[in-house]
Amino acid sequence: MDKLKMQTPDLIDKNIEQIAMLFPNVITEIKDESGNPKKAVDFDLLKQALSKNLVEGDDERYRLDWQGKKASLLKANTPINKTLRPCREESVNFDTTQNLYIEGDNFEVLKILQESYLGKVKIIYIDPPYNTGNDFIYKDDFKKSREAYEEELGVEDEYGGKLFRNTDSNGRFHSDWLSMMYERLVVARDLLKDDGVIFISIDDNEVHNLRKICDEIFGEENFIANILWQKKTSPDARMNISAAHDHILLYGKQSFLNELNFLPIDEYRRRSFSNPDNDPRGDWASVDLTGQTGRAPKSQFYTITTPSGIKMPPPEGRCWALAEQTFKNLQGDNRIWFGKDGSNRPRLKKFLKESKGIRPWTWWSNKTVGHNQEGAQELKVLFDNQSIFDNPKPTRLLNRIIQLSTSTSNGDIILDFFSGSATTAHAVFFQNSSDNGNRKFILVQLPEELQAGSNDFKATSTAQNAGYKNIAEIGKERIRRAGQKILKELEKKDDQLDLGQEKIDPSKLDIGFRVYKVDSTNMKDVFYHPSKLKQDELDLVISNIKEDRSPEDLLTQVILDLGLELSLPIETRKILNNTVFIVQTNSLAACFDNNIDFQIVDTIAELKPLKVVFKDNSFKDDKDRINVEERFKRLSPETIVTVI
Ligand SMILES: C[S@@+](CC[C@H](N)C(=O)[O-])C[C@H]1O[C@@H](n2cnc3c(N)ncnc32)[C@H](O)[C@@H]1O
Repeated sequence: MDKLKMQTPDLIDKNIEQIAMLFPNVITEIKDESGNPKKAVDFDLLKQALSKNLVEGDDERYRLDWQGKKASLLKANTPINKTLRPCREESVNFDTTQNLYIEGDNFEVLKILQESYLGKVKIIYIDPPYNTGNDFIYKDDFKKSREAYEEELGVEDEYGGKLFRNTDSNGRFHSDWLSMMYERLVVARDLLKDDGVIFISIDDNEVHNLRKICDEIFGEENFIANILWQKKTSPDARMNISAAHDHILLYGKQSFLNELNFLPIDEYRRRSFSNPDNDPRGDWASVDLTGQTGRAPKSQFYTITTPSGIKMPPPEGRCWALAEQTFKNLQGDNRIWFGKDGSNRPRLKKFLKESKGIRPWTWWSNKTVGHNQEGAQELKVLFDNQSIFDNPKPTRLLNRIIQLSTSTSNGDIILDFFSGSATTAHAVFFQNSSDNGNRKFILVQLPEELQAGSNDFKATSTAQNAGYKNIAEIGKERIRRAGQKILKELEKKDDQLDLGQEKIDPSKLDIGFRVYKVDSTNMKDVFYHPSKLKQDELDLVISNIKEDRSPEDLLTQVILDLGLELSLPIETRKILNNTVFIVQTNSLAACFDNNIDFQIVDTIAELKPLKVVFKDNSFKDDKDRINVEERFKRLSPETIVTVI
């Protein structure tokens, strides 16, 4: 029976496999720490294979380097022994929801999600600390003494991770921020679908550096746009010249696969549509029908007779935009407008209901997507008129991002791993309630203690007074409240529908979320290093699973280890006094009880699951194990049987 490995994937092994596929001859074998053979790359051979294009040593070349860059790449590829533990009490509709809220350091979370969400995420939106000179940056390898550490104005979050205030007096001010971003983006890229995209909010402090590392990680050719979002409505009188905008960098995983959606026609543009000739096809707007003469063919130079009888050649230096026959066909279909009295220069009628919408551009005005104050106000309204989080993004901004790059019916996953007050979740609920969509979110947030927060002092003390201990608590509460608000608004809207408008069933709107928290692995050290176990310790190790872990904890780690999605439906069945988890009908059956009867084994086998997992020490001895395998071979030969 095989054992699950119960740790995040080793990306170095995966990279070696990929090189092996391209250059099998450069792969060699070395011995690992325990003396077992393992694959390695012979760099001399690889150099030969690439000699024409190889960049040698540290010679000058076009790239952005900083202290710690190599180390962060290594970190991005190294596995960790951490897992997620479900928290039902803090979740909403745990059993039915498809949305996830994960508490912990996002670097660890991204690694934990590697196998389950590899190539599955449609959009990533992140709004990281901008490195303004006063932000807290997370370091998981802070090895200093506590005093020295506190001296640096660092604070510990609830999980023992370390946040330090990155001021510009830090000699590695840019390097530390870049390493933090680089290692996260390297891991995050793998989660994107081939036609997935990433949007990153940033300001002038680091936009130039961020763009460089994104060019490197995603490929310069996958840069799509640097969007300017007008975040303010008026200049700041205290500043010499104040920034009106933030940047939103947009990259595709493979940008040639990505076609952004058109944007719906907003109220402002809708006003330019009307129906002065009572056309039964509804409102229309007219567009110019002349073109540049440059390479225009002869067929675009002709004389048009208006309904009032005026003979009209193209204006001086221009031609008509359409060939004569096309023009005549459109005129026959009443698609040409000559003004109310039929004597103006002709224009083409564009019907509102035939319009695909608007192509986005890189200028996002606060009139259409909101501004900082709007974001703050939205949150204030949700939280009993109190400002408990500094600078949340407006939901309209996230709605624009979601509209541009997701579809209503594909169950697209939207990942935000610097989620703050959870604006992204709010926007996903809103968007789904507007177009009956089935998008789902994964939000990640550090349980950053409020006194350590990147929040300003006022917002922090207001949040503390309101009883919130950390930012994750604010995020979860925002999602609960936003869900209820949107549900109520949808019920109201359904009562006041205009003729022909689609009714959206409020009971189908998923306003739930499953909460998971990062923790150490469920397995004792002996699970990973059985050879280190001394004989006299054997009795102590009755189980290789930590005592405080529940069957649901084990199930979660198994789901992740098998690369299944965390949002899959889980059914808990009592079969002959044993608890059996059935994940997505027959993807997985798991039973972590201590004494497993063979009757249970047979009952599970009859369900014909694709995979089944038991606890290793649920079996008395090897004879029992073999027996179980035999029974599965007979009753459900396709099932893969493993233990933890
Ligand atoms: C600028 S805020 C995001 C605001 C958010 N877009 C909103 O609208 O509310 C950045 C957030 O990232 C969180 N954060 C910083 N480092 C993190 C890490 N290593 N893992 C997870 N979250 C982190 C901070 O606690 C902060 O809440």
